[in-house]
Amino acid sequence: MGEVMGSAKADLKRIDSIIADCRGQRWGLIPLLQEIQRVVGYIPPATIPRIARGLGLFPSQVQGVITFYTQFYTTPRGKNIVRVCRGTACHVRGGKTILKLVKQHLGIEEGETTPDFGYSLETVACIGVCALAPNVVVNADIYGNMNPKKVASLFGDYGGQ
Ligand code: FES
Repeated sequence: MGEVMGSAKADLKRIDSIIADCRGQRWGLIPLLQEIQRVVGYIPPATIPRIARGLGLFPSQVQGVITFYTQFYTTPRGKNIVRVCRGTACHVRGGKTILKLVKQHLGIEEGETTPDFGYSLETVACIGVCALAPNVVVNADIYGNMNPKKVASLFGDYGGQ
């Protein structure tokens, strides 16, 4: 992920240069959005008209794609992405409580980011390691057999308390 905390002006400059590249290479909208998100960390809504212009689309078409694909974000995200599994196995083995505890420790709700951009919290469908349920994923690391003690040691009294 790119430098999430970059200034809006610097982000705009980087996005403009990505759009300029895409003109030469005839990128599709989705690869362009992915590249912007990779470099800047999210897709600032104010840049949607420029993206549309770059590809000869209407802003509403760009907005529609961003809204449709959950992989795209229009607000800055945290340096660390925490995903609590809400699949069936994790759910029946206490995933709901784990989610509640993670929310408490981070001081944010699902879909939110801590004020210092340290963490964003999401839930995910089954991640395929049900034997370790309930599971929490932090970035690329899976933490299985979660319990309240493990949640506390992962996040401590981080923020929002
Ligand atoms: S339900 Fe959580 S890993 Fe399968």
